[in-house]
Amino acid sequence: MPQATPIEVRGLVKRYGDLVAVDQVDLTVEAGDVFGYLGPNGAGKTTSLRMMLGLIRPSAGTVRLFGRDPQLSVKALEGVAGFVEAPSFYPYLNGRENLRLFAALDGGEAATRIEESLEIVGLAGRAKDRVGGYSHGMRQRLGIAAALLRKPRLLLLDEPATGLDPGGMRDMRDLIRELSASGMTVLLSSHLLAEVEELCNRVAIVRSGRVAYQGSLADLRAQAGEEYLLRTGDEERARAVAGGRPGIADVTATDEGTRFGAADDEAVGALSIALAEARVPVFELARRHATLEDLFFSLTEGDAAGPAAARRNGGDPARTPVEAR
Ligand SMILES: Nc1ncnc2c1ncn2[C@@H]1O[C@H](COP(=O)(O)OP(=O)(O)O)[C@@H](O)[C@H]1O
Ligand SMILES: [Mg+2]
Repeated sequence: MPQATPIEVRGLVKRYGDLVAVDQVDLTVEAGDVFGYLGPNGAGKTTSLRMMLGLIRPSAGTVRLFGRDPQLSVKALEGVAGFVEAPSFYPYLNGRENLRLFAALDGGEAATRIEESLEIVGLAGRAKDRVGGYSHGMRQRLGIAAALLRKPRLLLLDEPATGLDPGGMRDMRDLIRELSASGMTVLLSSHLLAEVEELCNRVAIVRSGRVAYQGSLADLRAQAGEEYLLRTGDEERARAVAGGRPGIADVTATDEGTRFGAADDEAVGALSIALAEARVPVFELARRHATLEDLFFSLTEGDAAGPAAARRNGGDPARTPVEAR
């Protein structure tokens, strides 16, 4: 029998009065995915995860976890664990004691997995310390340890890396990679692209409750084209040289220098030669790392004359832009 899909969400809606917090979301998470649910604050990430975990009722649509509806039975949540927003603990109890309480609630074998879970999240050495003295990162990791007590096949984590310092973020990424390598399917939400992009094989990008893109980040970047920053000794001249070149689009003056979109490496290379020939000294020519905001922009407005258009038009800005997917 083929294994049921870890997460299948169809037409999911959550309304709060007039506000549509989650708007017709379709989501498929396959076994083995580390799936990033990305969007700015207020996009509806936590609300979606709450519905997936069966904590609140959808206004419309369906959630299936391994083929079962989390609203209908506790059994549907077998093999599934996670938390939304920050996990809560008793601050005056230590880490191990808190896990004992969780294990007592979960029942079954959970209590036998306390030490192993502490070990996996790297808290074995701190298990005797009161949680009140834990850093934010340690609390997040204890939250994951609590989830691991259920021996989940699917882990749902709401912004696990938000608020962590760079070291804590790296530890969190390493931990999620380990869990994934051990066979777990993971869905995590984030409002920062940089936080999750090396981690996730697939993403959904949500804004105002709607999924604007679902697929691999590599495909999205290819679709969006690449953006570059150019800094020279003569910006005006540089813009004149860059403007209208094949494969170069969207040449704009910014505080940092001249920004442009390029269809491919060849177009950038040809521009650098043209600048040299025009005797424009180049101080800097660098690919800008796309942020979540850039990608949103390319998803929603990219079919005008942005880098996405340069790419889709094969570099000719005069050609009619092809419809974005
Ligand atoms: N219980 C609630 N009652 C009313 N509005 C809510 C409630 N929960 C969330 N919202 C609203 O729904 C939208 C999405 O919130 P949320 O899911 O928390 O977003 P995110 O987790 O992406 O930051 C926000 O506008 C938020 O104010
Ligand atoms: Mg949230």
